Amino acid sequence: MSSGHSVSVLRQGGDLIGFSVVMSVIDEAHLLNIGICKHYQGQGLGARLLRHAMSCAQLGGASRMFLEVRPSNERAVELYHHFGFRQIGLRKGYYPATTGREDGLVFDRELP
Ligand SMILES: CC(C)(COP(=O)(O)OP(=O)(O)OC[C@H]1O[C@@H](n2cnc3c(N)ncnc32)[C@H](O)[C@@H]1OP(=O)(O)O)[C@@H](O)C(=O)NCCC(=O)NCCS
Repeated sequence: MSSGHSVSVLRQGGDLIGFSVVMSVIDEAHLLNIGICKHYQGQGLGARLLRHAMSCAQLGGASRMFLEVRPSNERAVELYHHFGFRQIGLRKGYYPATTGREDGLVFDRELP
């Protein structure tokens, strides 16, 4: 937040149950992270937060959104596909893994 990135949170009662972080540079937005508390996953909240992050980025002037995701993170990959993100690249050994490193899939989509 102190770097000026756009942070959105989801709360239920007093509890923080989800967040997203987007870095925007001119007309490009980069989804740096999104997460929903384990207990609340699978209820459409990740989709709601992603939709919100995309519209905030769009209102801020972005025409495209990028992100990286681990190939093993099937739920996140499914969520991004669901929202029209498509793979445009691969970063070799991008993420630390339990043993060695794991590639990062680079996804993007236009923000119409
Ligand atoms: C990825 C994450 C944010 C998704 O949030 P969520 O609230 O569980 O997702 P939703 O319930 O909104 O589901 C949205 C879509 O994701 C997909 N999805 C959700 N649960 C799924 C599952 N168990 N298996 C496969 N796909 C799934 C579906 O396409 C779903 O759409 P649908 O319900 O219309 O079919 C959440 O799982 C999370 O916080 N994971 C840990 C952190 C993380 O990996 N962040 C991403 C870093 S790149």
